Amino acid sequence: MAITAEIRVGADKLDLPVIVGSEGEVGIDIGTLRDKTGAITLDPGYGNTGAGESAITFLDGELGILRYRGYPIEQLAGSASFLEVSWLLLKGELPTAAELANLIAAERANRAVPDHVQAVLAACPQNTHPMAMLASCIVTLSSSHSDEDDAIAGLPANQLRLMAQLPVIAAYIYRRSQGLPLVPPDSERDYAANFLHMMFAGTGKQSDDVAIANAMDLLFILHADHEQNCSTSTVRLVGSSQADYFASVAAGVCALWGPLHGGANQAVVEMLDEIVHRGGKVDWVVAQAKDKASGFRLMGFGHRVYKNFDPRAKLIKVQADVVLDKLGKDDEQLDLAIGLEHAALADEYFVQRKLYPNVDFYSGIIYRAMGFPQEMFTVLFAIGRLPGWTAHWNEHNAGKARIGRPRQIYTGRNARDFVPLQAR
Ligand code: SDX
Repeated sequence: MAITAEIRVGADKLDLPVIVGSEGEVGIDIGTLRDKTGAITLDPGYGNTGAGESAITFLDGELGILRYRGYPIEQLAGSASFLEVSWLLLKGELPTAAELANLIAAERANRAVPDHVQAVLAACPQNTHPMAMLASCIVTLSSSHSDEDDAIAGLPANQLRLMAQLPVIAAYIYRRSQGLPLVPPDSERDYAANFLHMMFAGTGKQSDDVAIANAMDLLFILHADHEQNCSTSTVRLVGSSQADYFASVAAGVCALWGPLHGGANQAVVEMLDEIVHRGGKVDWVVAQAKDKASGFRLMGFGHRVYKNFDPRAKLIKVQADVVLDKLGKDDEQLDLAIGLEHAALADEYFVQRKLYPNVDFYSGIIYRAMGFPQEMFTVLFAIGRLPGWTAHWNEHNAGKARIGRPRQIYTGRNARDFVPLQAR
């Protein structure tokens, strides 16, 4: 039976068209609402409002399902590489052997970062947060590359270049912050291995371990896309003004930085450190999180969409054991995080609100064990999320994209006359 929607606004009755997606999701098209009734809808935070149709990622928050172009994250995480998944997100299909070989070769050949990006990094004060430096470097890339350049390996040139150069820029940011000499990209190493080598060569940290590089590659996959999240919606909205690709991605980096979004992975580790500092008892932090007056939130817990376990958190938790075991580290933080998860999931406050660990709850523990400073954690999230941002930017601009411009309900002062200064 066809689903219909009817809305009554005062004396007006309006039948609205309904769109049913390929997974049975139902969307009410309110495109004529204001013209026909004068009313708009209100939905702060957009919890009930779809930005449009998308064929990239499907997630079911009630069932804890996440699929990229129809492939379950659990299958991709165990079988594909990050470059394969990037191609899948961008092109809609897994690459053939020839397509993947071309992509790998092109990525390795385009890692060189333009010289002026070094100048941008050199101009940043030493205490600049890595996410600020990342956004600055990305947006200045538009001065050396054009959206009109010829495609490379079947991808828009700028998008391939940024995929290849983002880890290099990230490594430069880290090395500069540590006063270490820069390590040039090595075209003999694969994506994640080159990144870790450029980050940690000569520091005594794991820079050449295959298992650690595989874990890094898998973590990039788990962060690659997540439909209309805050930073992806930002990239789509900025792109809708026909701003260039680099400007749109730089805006996404800035949105991701917030502790309620991608910045949560850093905030989780800071929270766990605070628990350790206070004697390692988790009950006070659970109590704080339940106390509205505290303004404190249990970082790494809760999600706008997932009202069940975030499937990525489960996979990352497994990786935490693999990486810590490989590095011979028994991480007090991991034990603490597991204890905190158990305490929270046994507490009615969290159960009733369906607050489960999300993607950020365990990832910081792995990153720290690998040797990353916590200020770099969200940069790692950005490297993983780049193909998702790019796929959504392309999808939004492929259609007859109108510029995104939400309406509002004004609640300010009514019309009044200007008061001259001498009369105030
Ligand atoms: C990411 O959207 C995505 O897909 C994002 C992401 C991606 O891959 O792009 O998955 C990545 O951003 C994961 C989320 C990382 N952020 C955190 O871990 C920060 C901690 N989490 C919360 O701040 C919160 O859960 C959000 C921001 C994630 C979601 O916020 P919502 O959907 O706006 O939820 P809400 O604020 O309306 O909370 C509903 C209730 C409230 O209590 P009541 O008013 O009903 O009594 O749950 C409470 C909240 O106070 N609540 C929490 C909580 N999260 C929600 N209480 C304590 N601790 C928390 N973490």
